[in-house]
Amino acid sequence: SLKKVNALAKLLSQFLHLCGIFIHEKYPKCIYRQKERIETMFKVNENFAKLPGSYLFANIAKRVSTFQADHPEKEIIRLGIGDVTQPIAPAIIEAMHKAVDEMGHAETFRGYAPEQGYDFLRNIIAKEDFQERGCDISADEIFVSDGAKCDCGNIQEIFGLDNKVAVCDPVYPVYVDTNVMAGRTGLYNKERENFDGVIYMPCKEENGFLPEIPADEVPDLIYLCFPNNPTGGAITKAALQEWVDYANKNGCVIIYDAAYEAYISEEDVPHSIYECEGARTCAIELRSFSKNAGFTGVRLGFTVVPKELVRDGVELHSLWARRHGTKFNGAPYIVQRAGEAVYSPEGKAQLKEQIAYYMRNAKTILEGLSAAGFSVSGGKNAPYIWLKTPDQMTSWEFFDYLLEKAHIVGTPGSGFGAHGEGYFRLTAFGSYENTLEAIERIKNL
Ligand code: MLT
Repeated sequence: SLKKVNALAKLLSQFLHLCGIFIHEKYPKCIYRQKERIETMFKVNENFAKLPGSYLFANIAKRVSTFQADHPEKEIIRLGIGDVTQPIAPAIIEAMHKAVDEMGHAETFRGYAPEQGYDFLRNIIAKEDFQERGCDISADEIFVSDGAKCDCGNIQEIFGLDNKVAVCDPVYPVYVDTNVMAGRTGLYNKERENFDGVIYMPCKEENGFLPEIPADEVPDLIYLCFPNNPTGGAITKAALQEWVDYANKNGCVIIYDAAYEAYISEEDVPHSIYECEGARTCAIELRSFSKNAGFTGVRLGFTVVPKELVRDGVELHSLWARRHGTKFNGAPYIVQRAGEAVYSPEGKAQLKEQIAYYMRNAKTILEGLSAAGFSVSGGKNAPYIWLKTPDQMTSWEFFDYLLEKAHIVGTPGSGFGAHGEGYFRLTAFGSYENTLEAIERIKNL
């Protein structure tokens, strides 16, 4: 039968592979030796080989599915990746339905979206997220995209490879990995557990898990994320102003990831870097609809590049516009209408409730773990709780312990950087019931 022939062919191919002979997938008759293959093939991007292992959350997902396959009867509670669980708010669903219907009629059908975003969305973003907070940002400085993860990975493309990058440690891995892929770093240093050629700014308990301005070397690019992923820490406006002043004085560019701004509860914590004086000449801001409106599966975000941000005599705005225009064809109309509904009075009220729901989870985790004797932080202006692993366990040891004994998934702090070792991140994005259950399970360990 065909099945048997295929199985035999596979076996033969594996055998030949062992002998150093390859059968080309597309041309099964074309058998050639590995040496010839290397000589005739192009080179891959060798920078990718510098990256150890797989992407953090892919690695975790793999471990969890192995555990689940081995223990199908166990009910796993997932507080690992920062993925939302609440459904899209009704006002947003309504806007999406309306947009879907429009797409079904010739008079209202839309093809390619403007690559920087529809005016209806850019205008409302500029007004509500910036101008009403006193930030001088105009609609044409906003670039709508399919999410902040892509933007924070892609933004480095407009900078020269010689630029020195500074990141917090621990840090959202995308900032580092994308600079590695681009060739802006040296090799991975196994002993230090980080990359050569990158300035790491340790965020430790003694500095309130906040980065300090690098003392020894001036970076060109500084990645900051506030409220912070993974530690859940926040920065005051006065402290952020110091970074802005430093960047302006030294010609650095700050890439400011404000994906979690909707979770800010304290007065002196800025929602945007443009609340600081002088940020227009040194900062790019990244925003997401994933965490404030549950768009992790819908995909929408935006990047702000002020026109006054000039380096090397070039407006970075025009570089990003060129990049966006060449590589992006605009976020879908339906999704941008959904984004617009986030700012409607009904949308705002419904999302306020959603954020409050997640922040009740954060409070439950914070209070529950403190009562159980854990050292915890974050969770006040962010949906992440950062805890110290008990009994000197490494982050991955605690990950395994929690998964095996309590069937709870979290994120090992060391996955975010060397200074995350000995720490662990839990998210507040689960359901309330699961969050309560998780805390009970941890207390009973
Ligand atoms: C996280 O868990 O750190 C986030 O979900 C990652 C992301 O937003 O891409």
